Amino acid sequence: MTVSVKLLKNVPSKIDSRDNIIWNRDVASVLHKLPEKPLFDLVITSPPYNIGKRYEERIKLEDYTAWHEALIESIVCRTKSTGSICWQVGNYIESGSIYPLDYLFHPIFARHGLKLRNRIVWHYGHGLHQKRRFSGRYEVVLWYTKSDDYIFDLDAVRVPPKYPGKRAFRGPKAGQLSGNPRGKNPEDVWEVQNSTYDIWNIPNVKAGHVEKTEHPCQFPVGLVERLILALTQKSDVVFDPFTGTGSTGVAALLHKRRFLGCELDSDYAQLAYSRLIRTVDGQERFRSHAKPVFDHRLSPLSRLPEAAE
Ligand SMILES: C[S@@+](CC[C@H](N)C(=O)[O-])C[C@H]1O[C@@H](n2cnc3c(N)ncnc32)[C@H](O)[C@@H]1O
Repeated sequence: MTVSVKLLKNVPSKIDSRDNIIWNRDVASVLHKLPEKPLFDLVITSPPYNIGKRYEERIKLEDYTAWHEALIESIVCRTKSTGSICWQVGNYIESGSIYPLDYLFHPIFARHGLKLRNRIVWHYGHGLHQKRRFSGRYEVVLWYTKSDDYIFDLDAVRVPPKYPGKRAFRGPKAGQLSGNPRGKNPEDVWEVQNSTYDIWNIPNVKAGHVEKTEHPCQFPVGLVERLILALTQKSDVVFDPFTGTGSTGVAALLHKRRFLGCELDSDYAQLAYSRLIRTVDGQERFRSHAKPVFDHRLSPLSRLPEAAE
């Protein structure tokens, strides 16, 4: 079946079930025009953090929260009862104090009856070096479901176990390999370890990353891939209200899901559209969630040069 990708300003009265769409307009106005009935199987987004990035105007925290309250309400009623909502956030910072945005958002989702299934810690290796606090190296994904009848395909996202050679030492399976041959659960735990698989150690999109565009805050396709594979089935509809460069859409199309998204900035919307077209053509470059992070100890740069020793 041919895959159709559209970049639109208008919201048609009926959406063709084969279309993948990026609306280049304010998300609230798009939602307002969509029927108030369940359409999304999965919503994944990283909203503006209100920290004065190029694409946002810093507003009072109460106004920011109120804006989200209204937005989340219109998203929840358009999400299917078997669906999930994933909100990827970091910190808002004011006068040197950090406000983890998950603290701010959780009460809003809870008020709408959503159940928090995981608070996934996304750890990454690079970022600003702070002088007066520890350098921040993680953000979180809040994963909510609308009901107890939700999709969770663990087998689609298992990772290699730490000790694949471990054997059961008692019971009827004594002597047999004890792990699941399909791999282990990727977990949600924040652990400062050096192992690739202990945390969601998917590198962030900084200079040198294959996915890097001019957007200042892309999240990696690999982060979204894992969520899409675990929380949806083929042909399901994935919605990203703050599409940015279309990373969610790239992951959705890679795995044969449908994508709908909104992006206010016309340059980013165009960029997202081009990425989706390249994905359909098999030309988009991305770093798969299944690719292990490079072990820095293998680099010659991880050793001091002899003269300096
Ligand atoms: C944190 S970025 C998302 C980046 C995206 N996850 C990616 O990987 O490229 C937030 C995006 O929301 C867009 N945005 C801000 N306000 C918006 C609004 N009212 N409606 C739609 N998009 C908006 C910004 O232009 C920005 O690109």
